[in-house]
Amino acid sequence: MKIRKGSQEDFLRVHQFTAGCPPMENYPEHVYKIILRYFGDYCFIAEENEQIIGFVLGIVPQSFQDTYFLWDIGVAPSYRGKGIGKRLVREVENELGKKGFKRIELTIDPANLLSRKLFEKMGFKNISGRVGKTIEVQGYPAVKDYYKPGRHFMVFEKLI
Ligand SMILES: CC(C)(COP(=O)(O)OP(=O)(O)OC[C@H]1O[C@@H](n2cnc3c(N)ncnc32)[C@H](O)[C@@H]1OP(=O)(O)O)[C@@H](O)C(=O)NCCC(=O)NCCS
Repeated sequence: MKIRKGSQEDFLRVHQFTAGCPPMENYPEHVYKIILRYFGDYCFIAEENEQIIGFVLGIVPQSFQDTYFLWDIGVAPSYRGKGIGKRLVREVENELGKKGFKRIELTIDPANLLSRKLFEKMGFKNISGRVGKTIEVQGYPAVKDYYKPGRHFMVFEKLI
């Protein structure tokens, strides 16, 4: 297995990969083209035998200095639980460290146990209480109506 940066040529294969990696979002093809063309340096692909088995994507927000927003991450179902998610996050952290970033922010659906486990394990903290009015979902504070009414999400951060 190897991990490398994404590039815009990967966009159709990444689209195909995310389609088979629920509950990762499967956006239309052009979204991956745009993200990989403009933010490919901040996205990493895990491959085995030329097949994509993991992908992490993120963007650099304009209004948060030194912050990277880790948008989504997914590992192919048959490769989960083998440390690939942690390796992808570590690649992101190493790259951000080289570029002088200080902080990673991300959001998690409180129902997504595996995602919460991954990021807690990697030292991320739930900062929902600092971001907005919170509501308890499945025992965890989440920002009320964060993505739309009724779609409460937890906001996590890690200082790097
Ligand atoms: C979240 C996801 C990327 C994690 O990737 P992964 O490669 O399976 O994760 P890892 O093997 O690196 O495991 C990371 C930690 O999660 C926890 N974990 C992994 N598999 C687990 C399982 N089946 N049950 C409980 N905890 C588990 C462990 O704490 C593990 O760390 P440890 O092995 O040091 O104890 C993967 O489950 C996935 O693709 N999920 C679907 C897509 C998704 O929900 N993406 C997140 C949207 S933000």
